[in-house]
Amino acid sequence: MSTRTLYRDALLCTLAGDAGWGLVDNAAMVAEGGTLRWVGAASELPAHLEIDEEYHLGGTLVTPGLVDCHTHLVYGGHRADEFELRLGGAGYADIAAAGGGILSTVRATRMASDERLFADARERAMAMLRGGVTTLEIKSGYGLDFAHEVRCLRVARRIGEVLPLTVRTTCLAAHALPPEYAGQADAYIDHVCSWLPRLAEQDLADAIDAFCEAIAFDTAQIERVFKAARGAGLPVKLHAEQLSCLGGAELAAAYGALSCDHLEYLDAAGVAAMAAGGSVAVLLPGAFYFLRETQLPPVRALREAGVPIALASDHNPGSSPMLSPTLVLNMGCTLFRLRPEEALRGMTVNAAQALGLHDRGRLAPGQRADFVAWPLNHPNELCYWIGQPGACRPFIAGAPWS
Ligand code: NIG
Ligand code: FE
Repeated sequence: MSTRTLYRDALLCTLAGDAGWGLVDNAAMVAEGGTLRWVGAASELPAHLEIDEEYHLGGTLVTPGLVDCHTHLVYGGHRADEFELRLGGAGYADIAAAGGGILSTVRATRMASDERLFADARERAMAMLRGGVTTLEIKSGYGLDFAHEVRCLRVARRIGEVLPLTVRTTCLAAHALPPEYAGQADAYIDHVCSWLPRLAEQDLADAIDAFCEAIAFDTAQIERVFKAARGAGLPVKLHAEQLSCLGGAELAAAYGALSCDHLEYLDAAGVAAMAAGGSVAVLLPGAFYFLRETQLPPVRALREAGVPIALASDHNPGSSPMLSPTLVLNMGCTLFRLRPEEALRGMTVNAAQALGLHDRGRLAPGQRADFVAWPLNHPNELCYWIGQPGACRPFIAGAPWS
């Protein structure tokens, strides 16, 4: 029989309903086998419940574990030099066109040993975990040939094996055109399509992503990747409408995309397609901030159309070298004008949906016992403190992490 654990003396922010924080003061939770079985006011705890172990949470705020549903955590090197160039006036797309940008990280990633990639990615994942993240998506996309993409996906899988958090992996082989295929984008896409069944067979990817942009791939090329993903039985996502509107979100939604991400230039047709297709809008304020963008994603239109909004760090060396989930929450509010409750839903229940996960993101019976105790008095403080709001204590599948 599995251990039955009681957690008491918490201010719960359950997000259990479709709106509102779902606050429960003087609350308790009971978990068994890593799953929540009972959540409510301590005064209503069923009598005569046999308990094997008990945690006193000291009156702290407890939220669902944070879900970072969009990261590029596995890569070699960094791009601080490019950051300086951009501060001096160079554009992100210009740097990419000159062979820098994503391709400079591809060179550094290919040169890095498996152990280096793993050790660096593990440090980054630990920082996320310390910040309250209990489920983390990690994309490939800096290998850009079969062997290196596989290597990066294996490193990502290994992070999920050595750390207690859940890791979902996404293959982003259609991220940029590797130098050996210069001028032959269609041939590269043919190769990418041929890799997908093998990735599925080896269980290396939980989803397939691509970058639809003038500096990356067009919608016809992306559609071929989506068809191959469908053939391999893998769900899709898309980096869409980040720097311009090419109609990628519409296409992705038609393929039932779990999410479309970035979306600063998303138009009304894209919003409507996402609402119809059930795709989550993943907004990435770190990239917006770091690239000093001015075009805001259409938050109001997304809200009005009922498209679930998620927030993620987009951690990567080029456009968002950030490792603080609570800074993402803060930026979602300050830059994109999300309400604090929308921001928190965006890094819990809606982010889980963007990964195709429905067993987490709320505190309710039947959900995984992934939650975080924060030294705070109200969940709006998670968005208010700029960055880390004091040390938090994550519990994953009911067990404390320290
Ligand atoms: O999500 N937009 C494309 N990909 C990444 C950035 C990659 C890079 O610059 O290394 C992003 O922002
Ligand atoms: Fe990204």
